[in-house]
Amino acid sequence: MYIEEPGKLKKLAEGYYSVIYLGEIKATKAKVIIKKYTKKPDFHDIEEEARIMMYMSDVFPNFLGYVSLGAHMGNMSLVIEYIQNGETLLDVTRHDDLTIQQLLSIWYQLALAIQAMHTRFVLHNDLHLTNIMVQWKGDQPIVRMIDTGLSTFRKGMIGRIDTGYPFYPPEYRKWKETNPTMDIYGLGFIFDEMNGVFNNEDEDLQMVVDWCLSHLPQNRPSIHQLVERIGNISQKSQYLQQKIGLNGGIKPGKAYNIFNDIQVPLLDSSKITPVPSLHENKLWVDLDDDKGSYRGVYKNIPVTIHVFFSNDSYLDLHTECVSNTFASIHGFAPKVYGIHVEKLGDKDVIRGFVQEYVAGYIHLNVALNTFGHLNWNFSYRVEIAHQIITMVRLFHEKTIYIDNIHVKNILYRLGDGSGVPRVMFADLSQTYDASDDSYTDFSNDTLALGTVLKDIFESMSDVPPLLRTTIFRMMDIDPELRPSIKSIMERLGSFKNIY
Ligand SMILES: Nc1ncnc2c1ncn2[C@@H]1O[C@H](COP(=O)(O)OP(=O)(O)O)[C@@H](O)[C@H]1O
Ligand SMILES: [Mg+2]
Repeated sequence: MYIEEPGKLKKLAEGYYSVIYLGEIKATKAKVIIKKYTKKPDFHDIEEEARIMMYMSDVFPNFLGYVSLGAHMGNMSLVIEYIQNGETLLDVTRHDDLTIQQLLSIWYQLALAIQAMHTRFVLHNDLHLTNIMVQWKGDQPIVRMIDTGLSTFRKGMIGRIDTGYPFYPPEYRKWKETNPTMDIYGLGFIFDEMNGVFNNEDEDLQMVVDWCLSHLPQNRPSIHQLVERIGNISQKSQYLQQKIGLNGGIKPGKAYNIFNDIQVPLLDSSKITPVPSLHENKLWVDLDDDKGSYRGVYKNIPVTIHVFFSNDSYLDLHTECVSNTFASIHGFAPKVYGIHVEKLGDKDVIRGFVQEYVAGYIHLNVALNTFGHLNWNFSYRVEIAHQIITMVRLFHEKTIYIDNIHVKNILYRLGDGSGVPRVMFADLSQTYDASDDSYTDFSNDTLALGTVLKDIFESMSDVPPLLRTTIFRMMDIDPELRPSIKSIMERLGSFKNIY
């Protein structure tokens, strides 16, 4: 069935565990590759490799059969569809003319492929530049995954050696079982190498890299968050004209409703610092009649724990969790670990939710009143304003009102040495999903945003008149006359580039 003339096979490539030869199916003349093992594959099973390739055939090349060739496992070699005109990501990094559009497209397709795997309980376990291939259709890169050699189904891979490979995360070691966070780290590693080669300094992309490479696994994004994030950067920058599916197919856009699609895990009390007594004022960061928050740990990670005291607030709790999760995907809120459920007798009682504790942030009004008014220059203020509008816009794009925009609800942090400020939303409890409403009206948020911008630029004497007018118009008594978020964004964007 296959051309098999020992000594005459054309060698295409060498992997870590194999040599890849080019072959041909005699009857159809279809080109195939033959993967012949060099090392005795004692730590992965050839059959498992083939099975996962078949199971995930929408992501990997077709597995066609076995052929007897080679020295191990009963001379079994794999026959696999040949990826024509393909090259590995390592080859891609040797081009010097890759555009940012192509780079983003590759990242996005890669994230989609891993999403397809993770949602079907498969871990790749071996993500690096030579295990990803790209086929070019004109100037469009089509990502093809290869090498299920270490992939696992419904379990992790248990390493029997300390590999020291840099694409495995710091927590990986001998006898440790892999999990999805390790694939995310692997993706981060690939992204980082590509970024490095192309000297790309795009801040959004660097944020994605840093997120994936987070030291603590629980701080890395899930694959769904990653897809959403990269998709968003692409859309925002119009880098991708349309969503590119795997193998070049165009995927229909699915309306993503955060309140339906974002799942918030339930957390068991035993891992969470217990709720302090109400009399111990010192232990509470915030405390009023229907809710409060205190600092503690969840699984030994420092967190803020929010407690709800009344039944009416339980609905808000879900809204707040989902909205925070959504904002955190984009770096605009601390991440939510989950909802705190306490067992009281045989009843499960919802107590509140657990959120990442982020150090070093103060409320924007405090920042403005202390040093901000004096020290910030115009472009620094523009940067802060731009970030706040970006956050608002993310919600509006999902037809969600924030309804609670105020300098007191925005957190501010001086950048980590880079001079870039960071802002986050402190309170998303009032967000409202208007996606089912026949009439939507964002003008209240625009007004509130106007007052925030006013506060940010107030103490400057030489604010450009165009910006002043925009802020003024945002606060117009007549809602219809307030500008759209898009045009406000464009106005600020123009100042961002000039200064
Ligand atoms: N289906 C394929 N079509 C074309 N080239 C391939 C294909 N599969 C693998 N290769 C090439 O062979 C190399 C090694 O294959 P791989 O499956 O990663 O082997 P290993 O498990 O030994 O690492 C890849 O980096 C790639 O260059
Ligand atoms: Mg390989």
